[in-house]
Amino acid sequence: MSATAQPLGGITGLETLQMGAARVQVDDKKIINCHADLNQLVPFKYRWAWKKYLDACANHWMPNEINMAADVALWKSLDGLTEDERNIIKRNLGFFATADSLVANNLVLAVYRHITNPECRQYLLRQAFEEALHTHAYQHVIESLGMDEAEVFNMYREIPSVARKAAWSLKYTQSLGDPTFKTGTLENDQRLLRDLIAFYVIFEGVFFYVGFAQILSMGRRNKMTGTAEQLQYILRDESMHLNFGIDLINQIKIENPHLWTEAFKLEAIKMIHEGVELEYVYAVDTMPRGILGLNAEMFKDYLHFIANRRCAQIGLTQQFPGTINPFPWMSEIMDLKKEKNFFETRVIEYQTGGTLSWEE
Ligand SMILES: [Fe+2]
Ligand SMILES: [Fe+2]
Repeated sequence: MSATAQPLGGITGLETLQMGAARVQVDDKKIINCHADLNQLVPFKYRWAWKKYLDACANHWMPNEINMAADVALWKSLDGLTEDERNIIKRNLGFFATADSLVANNLVLAVYRHITNPECRQYLLRQAFEEALHTHAYQHVIESLGMDEAEVFNMYREIPSVARKAAWSLKYTQSLGDPTFKTGTLENDQRLLRDLIAFYVIFEGVFFYVGFAQILSMGRRNKMTGTAEQLQYILRDESMHLNFGIDLINQIKIENPHLWTEAFKLEAIKMIHEGVELEYVYAVDTMPRGILGLNAEMFKDYLHFIANRRCAQIGLTQQFPGTINPFPWMSEIMDLKKEKNFFETRVIEYQTGGTLSWEE
């Protein structure tokens, strides 16, 4: 990068324009601590980020397109669902209804300003919108079923197993959200990396999966199929968020190998263990007795299987070697290629139905 391209005071994209500064070159671009102009999307350097943005846009959906009539009838019927099944639905809506807002707030107020790359930011903007759609989806389900909204939206402050997951993650976003926080030192760059691991790998990559498995399992048994369909769309978005986060973390590691110290790796492994433990407590709390062919022991295996994958994805040693996935059907649901047909009609609807008409 030429000396003239160096902006003064900041890496936000809001710096004063420098007339005649050198044009952005691919090699100027970096994921963090970049000083090249952040308002120029091209030339692309991280094509994986741009591709994920395009893929996410191609999978657009809206929560109110999904028919909730069967769920409303089942929820309101006196004998359609057991108390245990109702508990699963309520607890998961309670967790997810605020969790996606928390993820969105972390993205917009903490992560976004420290990721100094336009193609990654383009994906973050899309992800932020998807998180809004997810909160919208949960609100839509809660309203359709006529649930006590205050009870559901307050669960993350009133139900310990839900609150602990939110409280655990908050400490990783709070320092980054501090307006005086700046990357550029070993300590602060590790703080950013720690936040990315906490939110992408653990919050979105572990804390969502008991709820997804429980609700989708209900859908497979033809119960609460509208809610399960909402979750299926959300799961597909979330697996892309997770994959983006993993690419982001790994790219930061490649560009900043000094951050990935033995002590840092041990800390990341400890965080993953804590996440698994919190999610297991949540599994037991949402499902004190075995139902739907599921039980707490299976969730322990499932969480260990997921934790192994997460460790491998960011280059850590697997912590529970040899664990077998007790829910292979979850992997099938997440397989994007198999999912494609499921969404094709909607994508086509958007491409045609989305055309604006100027007639009165
Ligand atoms: Fe989400
Ligand atoms: Fe997400």
